[in-house]
Amino acid sequence: MKNVVALYFSPTGGTKKVVNSMACSFAAFTGCEFSEKDVTLPKQREGTPEFGVDDVVFFGVPVYIGRVPNLIRPFFASIKGRGALGIPVVTYGNRAYDDALIELRDIMEKNGFRTVAAAAFPAEHSFSTTLAGGRPDEKDLLLAEDFARKIAKILTANPHYLCGHHTPIAVPGNPPPYTYYKAVISDNKNIDIRKVKPLTDISKCTGCGLCARLCPMGSINISDPTITDGICIKCGACIKRCPQGAKSITDPDYLEHKRLLEEEFGNVIKKAELFL
Ligand SMILES: Cc1cc2nc3c(=O)[nH]c(=O)nc-3n(C[C@H](O)[C@H](O)[C@H](O)COP(=O)(O)O)c2cc1C
Ligand code: SF4
Ligand code: SF4
Repeated sequence: MKNVVALYFSPTGGTKKVVNSMACSFAAFTGCEFSEKDVTLPKQREGTPEFGVDDVVFFGVPVYIGRVPNLIRPFFASIKGRGALGIPVVTYGNRAYDDALIELRDIMEKNGFRTVAAAAFPAEHSFSTTLAGGRPDEKDLLLAEDFARKIAKILTANPHYLCGHHTPIAVPGNPPPYTYYKAVISDNKNIDIRKVKPLTDISKCTGCGLCARLCPMGSINISDPTITDGICIKCGACIKRCPQGAKSITDPDYLEHKRLLEEEFGNVIKKAELFL
């Protein structure tokens, strides 16, 4: 073990905080070199990240409809582990992580990582500020750091982890085919918000272009940020990070789904789940 990497896709920053806390704490405990590999933006996903037996990779993704984010999955599947130790980490917006953690673990194992621990953390929902609002908080991050130290202790005390023998970390979830969460609104109507995109209030927008630079799909027109040319994954980055609060989604099905989620899960305090 020489290098510790925090690898993450994190449009609104919750996953980044959790994974960085874990990886930094692990590096401090073991004396390994720490580095970050942010793969949120299209430019950051050019090329194929490759790791090796000297690396420990904390790999974080948000849960989207119960799974690893659909449109980024082919990129995740291309990352080469080559015997690196891996810790799959998912964050979810207070509803559930369903099959996402087992799916991420399986992607990593298929890619040649040896998964030795895993975690699922609640983090503020991309659609809302009240679903797991403000999380991960200080307590969550202390828990993440403490968990990383536990992993480090076990790995350094059991060198067999570092060579040959390996069993993938056991995590909750169903084996393939993994199940998508089906969002329903009133009268049990399934919603399909795939084509929904944020709108821009032109009376607030200053044309600064920040939203275009932050969009993980590269879908916002940099010359005219009121136009979303490409696919929108509803990640919330442009909405939550616009300094003028100029972006919002006004689609009635989206808003109803958000309202129902807030009603059911808004007052629930979920705990992080750790697997070692
Ligand atoms: C399209 C979409 C689907 C989501 N589906 C779920 C879900 O099934 N369960 C859940 O609890 N949170 C869900 N979330 C919330 C995110 O998992 C959560 O906010 C995550 O922590 C965001 O990570 P980030 O801050 O790193 O972007 C969804 C978010 C988006 C954008
Ligand atoms: S970040 Fe906000 S203010 Fe800046 S271009 Fe985008 S919508 Fe306009
Ligand atoms: S346009 Fe869609 S995909 Fe791009 S940042 Fe905004 S919510 Fe995310």
